[in-house]
Amino acid sequence: MRRSARTAPAALTPLADHVDPAWLPSEAFRALGSRRTVVCGTGALVDTVHGEVAWACGAFGGSVVRAEEPADDRPCDLLLHLGERLDAPEPLGDEGFTLVRRRGRTTVTAAGQRGLLYGLFHVVRLGEAAFGASRAREAHRPALASRMLDHWDNVAVHPVMGQVERGYAGGSLFWRDGRARGDLERVRTYGRLLAACGINAVAVNNVNVHATEAHLLTDRIGEVAEIAGALRPYGIRTQLSVTFAAPLVLGGLATADPLDEAVRAWWAEATGRVYAAIPDFGGYVVKADSEGQPGPFAYGRSHADGANLLADALAPYGGTVHWRAFVYDHRQDWRDRSTDRARAAYDHFVPLDGRFRDNAVLQVKHGPMDFQVREPVSPVIGAMPRTRLAVEVQATQEYTGQQRHVCALAPMWSQVLRWRPEGATGTSVGELARGGLVAVSNAGDDPYWTGHPLAQANLYTVGRLGWQPDADPFGLLDEWIDLTFTPARTEAPERLVAGLRAVLYRSWRTYEKYTAPLGVGFMVQPGHHYGPSVDGYEYSPWGTYHFADRDGVGVDRTRATGTGYAGQYAKPWAEVYESPDTCPDELLLFFHHVPYGHVLHSGRTVIQHIYDTHFEGVAEVEEARQVWASLVDLVEPARHTRVAERYEEQLRGAREWRDHINSYFFRKSGVPDAHGRRIH
Ligand code: GCU
Repeated sequence: MRRSARTAPAALTPLADHVDPAWLPSEAFRALGSRRTVVCGTGALVDTVHGEVAWACGAFGGSVVRAEEPADDRPCDLLLHLGERLDAPEPLGDEGFTLVRRRGRTTVTAAGQRGLLYGLFHVVRLGEAAFGASRAREAHRPALASRMLDHWDNVAVHPVMGQVERGYAGGSLFWRDGRARGDLERVRTYGRLLAACGINAVAVNNVNVHATEAHLLTDRIGEVAEIAGALRPYGIRTQLSVTFAAPLVLGGLATADPLDEAVRAWWAEATGRVYAAIPDFGGYVVKADSEGQPGPFAYGRSHADGANLLADALAPYGGTVHWRAFVYDHRQDWRDRSTDRARAAYDHFVPLDGRFRDNAVLQVKHGPMDFQVREPVSPVIGAMPRTRLAVEVQATQEYTGQQRHVCALAPMWSQVLRWRPEGATGTSVGELARGGLVAVSNAGDDPYWTGHPLAQANLYTVGRLGWQPDADPFGLLDEWIDLTFTPARTEAPERLVAGLRAVLYRSWRTYEKYTAPLGVGFMVQPGHHYGPSVDGYEYSPWGTYHFADRDGVGVDRTRATGTGYAGQYAKPWAEVYESPDTCPDELLLFFHHVPYGHVLHSGRTVIQHIYDTHFEGVAEVEEARQVWASLVDLVEPARHTRVAERYEEQLRGAREWRDHINSYFFRKSGVPDAHGRRIH
């Protein structure tokens, strides 16, 4: 038995003052840190757990003992141990744990080290409640085995996309000046935050693999290993985005044909070297035949051939390839009405169902287009029962305000994960996502991690939804609020919580109200995608059209008269979406081209809905800004100021959106606003 000192282990050196503790402020550890804890078990992650408790005890006066075995006669308030849970009703796996409170002692039992780490953070979330009244045994395990963040980080600054593609939170946490950053303490702290919300894998470079980044796979794998070393203590596996053309550009081969023996041998050898450097490497992420990236089509091969090539190389080591389904024609002629980008993923991949290896995961964007504020759920999910699918969402707010606008996305993600492709009695998306949940990260080297301090909520809730896809998204937002804002508060926590709920809960709907209406999507400025430009993508090759004319607006995706996309769904959805009479209002313009006078289920016409929601959206931003201002005495000044400044920009942006959209549709349709409000 070793007795721990009450000092912070080196691993937990407090961060420099300028880095925000996010949802792990010291105060969140008070309940734990003021108790007597015993940590039992051996292994690197048990060391992490012990280090966390020792640090908390150093801060709050408790004590921690490290023991090989639990002993009943040793007095303690909290026992965290590795053990067989013979009495657990079902196996909880390496990541699950049980928690019980009996006779004044809280016991967390896990079969695996990761489970112990997650159990510890559960105790932190519970706070005093973990040490109060008795609690019956609770069993916790993640519903999804893989909960991954994709970082679209470039090693070298890209001339157009910068350091982080679609990044709104400063530079990369991993890369700077063309190489891995030296300050791995920040990466380690990131890993700690991620573990505390349930993330267990991180892909450290952009899916668009440029020339410099390609080398991470081979001669620069040592830099990836450094990052992996900083994430490992928090149970996070590292993944790498690789280019399908690697055998050509790195190996000097004449082909990257997935069925070529020399190509297969090259990948096998390259992968062997990756595992020599990173024994617990998670695997590859691949964007192939997509927006200019190389892929198997060049050799007349299918995406199953491509994915299986990499899956086979990874299989001896237990690795996984995440193969993205984001494949469509980005050089479409806008005059060509027979091509529909929304159809593309289904058309390419559904015929391949059953042909992917077990360690190949098909990573599918949650909607058929591209992370718009409102899209139907991708019909691919539900149509490939013999393939491991992962659902990909975008925490980085490319199309949802770029972390200058508040847009808490958990309610939207939750809707996706709870949706049932076969109707009410069928299986949910969360259950179908056997390959896990993937989110494009919104974090960078910004002091608040996410640029907008309230965007931290998106990072937190996406991890928690991966753990429990059917969780109440508002409950998860509350969790984030409580951990981040209230542990240290003695005064007015109710006003603070009420205020934060007011600004977060409806922020996604507010954003939707003042941007592209009724599911039609885009209408953003080309390239950077911030701010309105109604026709910005109307005559472009990207497949993103709204078809507004003087009579109506929307895309006819019906089987009867449109692109046939609605027919990619199973019943009942194929029928629900086929008719404007049954199509939900919020998706009407995604599925139908309708006259401006078309009456929605809400009773309003489409044109009046457009005017009303745009006025409402701006009014809601004004209100939220006021609510935030009223919290000035309750929020730490620097954080308050940062958010207040962003509200000014959000309000300016919302007005700009309102006036563009309303003027555009007034001018097209000639229909005046029923309430006579000012339209330019
Ligand atoms: C969007 C985004 C790109 C990104 C792509 C992807 O199109 O604008 O920056 O590369 O999605 O998901 O691969």
